[in-house]
Amino acid sequence: MCGIIGIVGTKPVQERLIDSLKRLEYRGYDSAGIAGVVGGHVERRRAKGKIRALEEVLAEDPLKAEVGIGHTRWATHGEPSTRNAHPQTAGRVTLVHNGIIENYAELREGLKAQGRTFESETDTEVIAQLLDHELDRGKAPLAALKATLDQLTGAYAIAILIDGEDQLIMGARRGSPLVVGYGEGEMFLGSDALAVGPFTNRISYLQEGDYVAIDHKGAKIFDETGKAAERPVTTVPASAALVEKGNYRHFMEKEIHDQPEGCQHTISAYVDPVSDRTRVPGEVDWAGLARIQIVACGTSFIAGLLGKYLIEQLADLPVDVEIASEFRYRQPALQANSLAIAMSQSGETADTLAALRYCQKRGMRTVAVVNATESTMAREVDVVWPIHCGPEIGVASTKAFTAQICVLTAVAIAAARARGRIDAAEEQRLVKVLLEAPRLVAESIKLEDAVRGIAQEVAKARDVLFLGRGPMYPLALEGALKLKEISYIHAEGYAAGELKHGPIALVDDQTPIVILAPFDSYFEKSVSNMQEVMARGGQVIFITDPEGEKHAPRGARVVVTAPQSDPLIAPLVLAAPVQLLAYYVAVQKGADVDQPRNLAKSVTVE
Ligand code: F6R
Repeated sequence: MCGIIGIVGTKPVQERLIDSLKRLEYRGYDSAGIAGVVGGHVERRRAKGKIRALEEVLAEDPLKAEVGIGHTRWATHGEPSTRNAHPQTAGRVTLVHNGIIENYAELREGLKAQGRTFESETDTEVIAQLLDHELDRGKAPLAALKATLDQLTGAYAIAILIDGEDQLIMGARRGSPLVVGYGEGEMFLGSDALAVGPFTNRISYLQEGDYVAIDHKGAKIFDETGKAAERPVTTVPASAALVEKGNYRHFMEKEIHDQPEGCQHTISAYVDPVSDRTRVPGEVDWAGLARIQIVACGTSFIAGLLGKYLIEQLADLPVDVEIASEFRYRQPALQANSLAIAMSQSGETADTLAALRYCQKRGMRTVAVVNATESTMAREVDVVWPIHCGPEIGVASTKAFTAQICVLTAVAIAAARARGRIDAAEEQRLVKVLLEAPRLVAESIKLEDAVRGIAQEVAKARDVLFLGRGPMYPLALEGALKLKEISYIHAEGYAAGELKHGPIALVDDQTPIVILAPFDSYFEKSVSNMQEVMARGGQVIFITDPEGEKHAPRGARVVVTAPQSDPLIAPLVLAAPVQLLAYYVAVQKGADVDQPRNLAKSVTVE
């Protein structure tokens, strides 16, 4: 989603605004813009499309400012266009905004009735017009901002320049995150720590309803009632180096390769490799728990579904998993004594956050499995289970998915032990198996060349089916999601047993069918489905392990053999070839791998 940067600098800011916007590209966007104070007046430059389009505008007409704001916009109200790009201006006010103003139509009508004219279709311009209106009424900037915020319903993070206030940037947050960065004689605002990462790692996270004024002297923060507030300054570890691509062509490729390390760091936080016992953070009364409710979206939902398989099988504890956007609106019946788990890489996904708050309101204990530990979800829950895979920049989630699975696997083992379903020796055996995952994931990534070889053919397909049983079913869903989102090829993931109930109609000799079948208790059944598909001309890509390869019938077009592993960690081991297949098909098609069309990294609108 949209990204924000603001700099009160002591030297020219144009290049730094652009550098920061490039770091925010991963959030997904369709236009970009910057504004700055030039000779006492605010000027802006904007462009539809990628940041390089904005750079072309700036090459013609540079912005010679030392105080400025920048924005990448992911369209919600109004098409992607230069006119709708931020910064939006009204009178003396120029601002950038993340989020959605829900009462914008009503406010817009009111402002129009007072003779104000609008140049864009955005809800953002309404904030600019309102603030300008309050300034016109003679209020000082901060008082005008407070009066404006009091009229807004919805979600926002805002950074504002005011004509005539050369050294000032104001900001506010509600629903969308905003951070204040402290530099040497310079101050920053950003939509996350990465935005200000190149300039400082000393950061304050604004709280819900806060608004702020920054200048060369520092930051003045106020809470939603208008009272001066102190927010602690923390030093964040996300160094700029963590978000570089290094020698990889795309962040997605790098992040697939980061997975052994991401799994390693994550597993180490949840198991003790010396005693081979689990150590899941936070108090959870596993033995007394009646049920778990997992809420999530997209790939995080799929990780949650895999968690259901693991937790129910090992711990005999019922788990419901639901897509957050359904859960939050259908008034689900919740069982007393249940634990709510929100799965979210970003910790900011609007639907997941709303579903989590729904559970909280009904008195459930809440957990967030997040990558961004300073995110809203992390701050609102009772217990945080962080994943430790480092910032994920590619829009298509890869290393967060496997790290989420590592957490849920450790949780399943811990719950099984606490509920007396396994003894200490079995806990130790399972932990040892989990500790093997990073090495086997690294082995599995070595299938890269084999997978690249298949991609050329798959890239020609119109439809691709992914089939799996048991824990391979969620992985089939993930394979299909990855392929469609970055290569734009239609793909479906199915439980292999469902094949006969409909999807088999899609099978012909033009349809690649990816069958995920390690040599586990489901293997025989999966092989039967493979036979059914081959009998109808389907081109099978069989992803298995050495035992599976030995026992598989002939006839698959390609066999991809991942390392042998215990079934507990097979989803982690087989994830890499599935992700690599999507990656190389997208590369083959020349698609924009890290920023697929229409997608955003952090979906902070519903
Ligand atoms: C798919 C993908 C998305 C996200 C979804 C949830 O590759 O990345 O489906 O998984 O938008 O995002 P988070 O996990 O941040 O809540």
